[in-house]
Amino acid sequence: MPDDDRQDIPVWDPFIRLFHWSLAASFLVAYLTEDDFLGLHVWSGYVAGILIVLRLPWGFVGPRHARFSNFVRRPAESIAYMRQLLALRAPRHLGHSPAAGAMIVVLMVAVTLTVLSGLALYGAGEKAGPMAGLFPASAVDDTVGGHAASQRQKGADHDDDDDDDDEDDPMAEALEEVHEFFADLTLGLVAFHLVGVAWTSFAHRENLVRAMITGRKRPDI
Ligand code: HEM
Ligand code: HEM
Repeated sequence: MPDDDRQDIPVWDPFIRLFHWSLAASFLVAYLTEDDFLGLHVWSGYVAGILIVLRLPWGFVGPRHARFSNFVRRPAESIAYMRQLLALRAPRHLGHSPAAGAMIVVLMVAVTLTVLSGLALYGAGEKAGPMAGLFPASAVDDTVGGHAASQRQKGADHDDDDDDDDEDDPMAEALEEVHEFFADLTLGLVAFHLVGVAWTSFAHRENLVRAMITGRKRPDI
């Protein structure tokens, strides 16, 4: 059933929409650019991190449907709602449903952990970025392969850095595993998120993707 824009009411404010589509884009760019385009990878990862940081205060001072208090529910409530949703018996919510609320919290935590582990890996493996100081250059780093940490740092964000540095450094190797784990976990959650959006759109006969673009939804519950 097509929505009628004239009767639809505003639900998602411009910040939420900008936040959402920028987060989706920056996450996907970061996911697809890890190896060959490290500069772009790091910057899109920073953007994702900054977006999460900006979303947090908005969840307390933003308009009604942006507030965490409007959609974050106890896990039991979210699970009960998911069961209703599967049975196509869930009540429609104008803002995020209890199931969407749970997914949003988990997604935001997962993106945060991906970004933090990326920052740590960048510091340990490339001796660059804000965490570089936490990982002083080891003797191995300065001698093997002729890549002095100080030289590398001068290059700041370089796209063509050699990945083999990590192989000399067990800390960087471990962090790479951790970073990859969180990135893949987040990707899995995004897939689940998209299935949830599609299923809820079907269950309530409305286009939730369109609502996240226009910010408007039909008012009846
Ligand atoms: C093309 C891909 C995507 C589509 C079509 C999509 C769609 C949507 C929709 C329709 C909503 C609103 C759900 C509701 O009505 O309750 C939403 C919310 C949300 N999505 Fe996505 N999404 C996509 C990708 C992503 C990605 C990649 C992430 C994170 C890595 C993400 C994170 C979120 C978050 C955090 C919210 C809550 C928005 C807020 O209130 O701040 N989404 N998404
Ligand atoms: C949402 C954001 C991010 C996503 C989805 C993401 C995803 C990934 C993935 C999938 C890999 C490949 C892991 C592997 O196969 O071993 C990777 C590698 C890497 N990431 Fe990220 N990352 C993100 C943010 C960041 C940030 C913010 C930084 C640094 C400030 C960063 C630094 C790195 C580095 C240094 C590598 C190793 C590249 C290499 O040597 O091949 N990432 N990232």
